[in-house]
Amino acid sequence: MKTTIEKTAEKSLLPVLLERQRANPQNFISEEDVNRIAEELNLSRSRVYSTASFYSEISLQPRGRHLIRICCNAPCGNAGKAAVQSAISTELGIAIDETTEDGLFTLESVNCLGACYMSPAMKVDDRIYGNLTPSDALDIIREISREQSR
Ligand code: FES
Repeated sequence: MKTTIEKTAEKSLLPVLLERQRANPQNFISEEDVNRIAEELNLSRSRVYSTASFYSEISLQPRGRHLIRICCNAPCGNAGKAAVQSAISTELGIAIDETTEDGLFTLESVNCLGACYMSPAMKVDDRIYGNLTPSDALDIIREISREQSR
């Protein structure tokens, strides 16, 4: 049976993982982070690692500062996802699961963002954009790039 302290540590594990990931310029949880969090919360390394690997919001690999997730499910596919993805790939010079050289963007493919009513859709960090045209997608990415350089 788990003690109250153990239960509290497990409850705070996900928020701690998300916070550490945000604090990492490469937007991921490193081996060192896993060890440190396990020690701080008095949890096993395997518990921290399994939680980190379970949630798609958490990465154990370095990623760009901004995550672009393009929906690849059928409704978005039928609504023009390929053209949107192609425009983004050309603009940034990266394919799916790649990161720009400057470390600013990682491009990922996901099954559904829950925004099928506004296909094609993509999510950039915590925000979902829908009814996208290639031009819309480029405007969004260029605006984020401009904000970063200010
Ligand atoms: S199918 Fe694209 S958001 Fe659901």
